[in-house]
Amino acid sequence: MNNKRVITFGTFDVLHIGHINILERAASLGNQLVVGISSDNLNFQKKGRNPIYCEEDRVKIISSLKFVDEVFIEESLELKGQYIKDFNADILVMGDDWKGKFDNFKNICEVTYLERTPSISTTEIIEIVKKI
Ligand code: CTP
Repeated sequence: MNNKRVITFGTFDVLHIGHINILERAASLGNQLVVGISSDNLNFQKKGRNPIYCEEDRVKIISSLKFVDEVFIEESLELKGQYIKDFNADILVMGDDWKGKFDNFKNICEVTYLERTPSISTTEIIEIVKKI
């Protein structure tokens, strides 16, 4: 355990084990974990669909996890650097689907990409449920 503040970002819609694994591992890199939850609008911009769970519900779900200390709504991808500074983050954690994409923040914090949990995603869950 150290005194570092860790920040990570994501939509976290239809919570699954991949979300829990990355948040748990991110939390273990410091002593405080801050999570930026994509707003409904931002999710639409990124993924071309509305999330199943609205932003208020996703915030409440992620806030209730024991290894998450603080949650906020990420309104825009362009504000990532500002969020990192505003929340005094020492480490930015992203899934390795984003590998290299946030290296430009290495001048303001450590940047770490964690391996995604294989074979699960919100999109896949939605597709499976649609077929049932
Ligand atoms: N994540 C992970 N392992 C997975 C799925 C997601 O580690 N199997 C991580 C992502 O890398 C990201 C965070 O969880 O850091 C939030 O990802 P998000 O995009 O909300 O979840 P996905 O399941 O990837 O959603 P979608 O299918 O809608 O893209």
